[in-house]
Amino acid sequence: MQLEDIDFTKLAQFGGDMPDHWFTFLRREAPVWFHPPVEAAAELGGEGFWVLSRHEDIFAANRDHRTFSAETGPGRDRGGIMIRDVEAKFGVGENMIMTDPPRQQQLRQLVNLGFSPRGVRRLEELCRELARELFDRVVARGECEFVSEIAAEVPLQVIAEILGVPPDDRRQVFTWTNQALDDSLAEGQRLTAISEMWGYAIRLGGERRAHPTDDVYSRIAHAELREDDGTARRLSDIELAHFFQLIATGGSETTRNAISGGLLAFVENPEQLELLRRDRSLLPGAVEEILRWTSPVNYFRRTAKRDVEVRGRTIRAGDKVSLWYCSANRDEEVYAEPFRFDVKRSPNDHFAFGAGGAHYCLGANLAKMEIEVVYDELLRRIDEIEVSGPVTRFCPAWYLNVFGGYQSLPIRFRAR
Ligand code: HEM
Repeated sequence: MQLEDIDFTKLAQFGGDMPDHWFTFLRREAPVWFHPPVEAAAELGGEGFWVLSRHEDIFAANRDHRTFSAETGPGRDRGGIMIRDVEAKFGVGENMIMTDPPRQQQLRQLVNLGFSPRGVRRLEELCRELARELFDRVVARGECEFVSEIAAEVPLQVIAEILGVPPDDRRQVFTWTNQALDDSLAEGQRLTAISEMWGYAIRLGGERRAHPTDDVYSRIAHAELREDDGTARRLSDIELAHFFQLIATGGSETTRNAISGGLLAFVENPEQLELLRRDRSLLPGAVEEILRWTSPVNYFRRTAKRDVEVRGRTIRAGDKVSLWYCSANRDEEVYAEPFRFDVKRSPNDHFAFGAGGAHYCLGANLAKMEIEVVYDELLRRIDEIEVSGPVTRFCPAWYLNVFGGYQSLPIRFRAR
């Protein structure tokens, strides 16, 4: 193959299995590659962008936030091509994932505690009960649709607990978060969903301020943000809404996709599940391998703030730079046999949560706990798992190639 064969704006390439052959080629032949503007995308205001595909280079870029700024990303992307810059301004400098240190660190400190190992332990029992209930519902049937009945439900309910969303409102909140990301909707519909969600988040924040509870969102509502001049203030309504949206969005689909993609990996490699069954102490390592294997966030994007040279190529100030975490996770310089799913892989410094920099996933401990609890319960309850119908993939439009995942994964199994 040749570089000319690679076109990241062909989103259909990301709708099934990942185009791993592209990344293997890029890592070897053009690890720092400028993806030229593509005509079809140019009509949407798209422009060319850099593609970094090696573990080492992506790690280094993440460490250097002064050069590779997150301020305008991950925003609205299409194939790594920035479109409609105006929309990306939503949240710039306010939403933690779209700020650089030191501001990003100040915002992050307001919520860190809730996601610390201790904060997560508080949620573990709840998560376990939930996983038990979900398996209770399907085990006798001997079959289920794994994505909606198990993989999606655990993260949704855990996030709702963190945000203190009352049970009756949960469906609505997650409809909004999905619509907010869904480019297949008319622009007006998406904006309506976002503004309704923000209205809800602000109302809920107001209630928490009047009547504190012990969820993370209540803590955010009461937290004080320190300004550069040393003064401290509570978050504005919009800042509250950004926190709400970021946690609601960041915490659900990614974890769902890791759980479902992991199951498919086990169905395709049943001996790996058998290893776990025989030795449950392998489970934490298996969770890391599920994360490496599924790489639920394919890439995030930065913008170069100054001219910089990487492997002899000059990236200019203002250029867009996409960091392909899914490619880092298959880098043959880092992993022996990267295309083998191996629950015993060690070391396994994967890139599923980003690595090297300030934006390392806030929910990493939480996600790992959820995945571990689900698989622990699964091992107790079912075996002889097989796929029993068509497996369908996500997703509507733009985030097709930012998030990879499954829409439905019907399985049959034997109850234990
Ligand atoms: C398997 C599940 C998950 C994966 C693969 C994942 C992946 C990621 C990645 C790659 C980033 C870094 C983005 C960058 O490089 O700019 C990130 C950031 C973030 N994640 Fe996750 N995530 C997961 C689960 C969660 C959960 C459960 C939550 C919250 C409840 C969460 C909240 C966040 C937040 C708030 C950030 C932004 C942090 C910052 O900007 O400082 N994530 N995540």
